Amino acid sequence: MKPKKFLVRRAQPGDAEAIVRVHVASWRTTYHDLLDPTIFDDMEKSLDQRIARQDEWLARPDIVTYVATTLHHHIVGFINGGPARRHDLGLDAELYAIYLLSGWQKSGVGTALVRQLALSLQVRGYHSLLVWVLSGNPSRSFYERLGGRALTESPITIGSQTLDETAYGWDDIAVVSG
Ligand SMILES: CC(C)(COP(=O)(O)OP(=O)(O)OC[C@H]1O[C@@H](n2cnc3c(N)ncnc32)[C@H](O)[C@@H]1OP(=O)(O)O)[C@@H](O)C(=O)NCCC(=O)NCCS
Repeated sequence: MKPKKFLVRRAQPGDAEAIVRVHVASWRTTYHDLLDPTIFDDMEKSLDQRIARQDEWLARPDIVTYVATTLHHHIVGFINGGPARRHDLGLDAELYAIYLLSGWQKSGVGTALVRQLALSLQVRGYHSLLVWVLSGNPSRSFYERLGGRALTESPITIGSQTLDETAYGWDDIAVVSG
């Protein structure tokens, strides 16, 4: 298969809608076996609120967002991160979310986004990195391929369901930024 060409750039204020659309589409394909399908319909119904919230996130100085685009500048994936939301694991930065459209997965886009985010967080003075992934998500092996260590599990409620999440961590963020 021909390698897919893509670009990675910092997200800009006008990107909120495209980011949210990628997020919702990727949730549907990623979690169809794990989550109640009404979750995806609810996400579609709340697009406007999600876009407004994404706009706020893009304006926050403590959150870093990158997008992956086609050579024609269509957004096909995004990543964001910032300070760790839980401090008991001893890691200072967190990858909050990374989602790609299904047709753009397994082509190196995710690795490029994670490396770019880690570099940006490292430049901001962070030393280590944490990410939470639903334990039933096969993508957890993506973090293992990047050298992440499974640290602990914790329950999370999504809609009416309670599932387990696994935390992956890197003591040295430079391992991820490369
Ligand atoms: C997880 C995700 C960001 C990875 O990005 P990607 O561009 O697909 O991954 P890459 O092409 O950079 O792959 C890097 C390695 O991870 C592996 N990998 C990626 N996704 C995988 C998956 N779902 N299952 C198993 N291995 C996976 C690749 O096979 C590759 O290994 P290799 O070098 O031995 O071939 C992307 O697949 C995605 O958006 N998935 C759906 C959403 C999701 O699960 N997000 C994470 C929520 S915490």
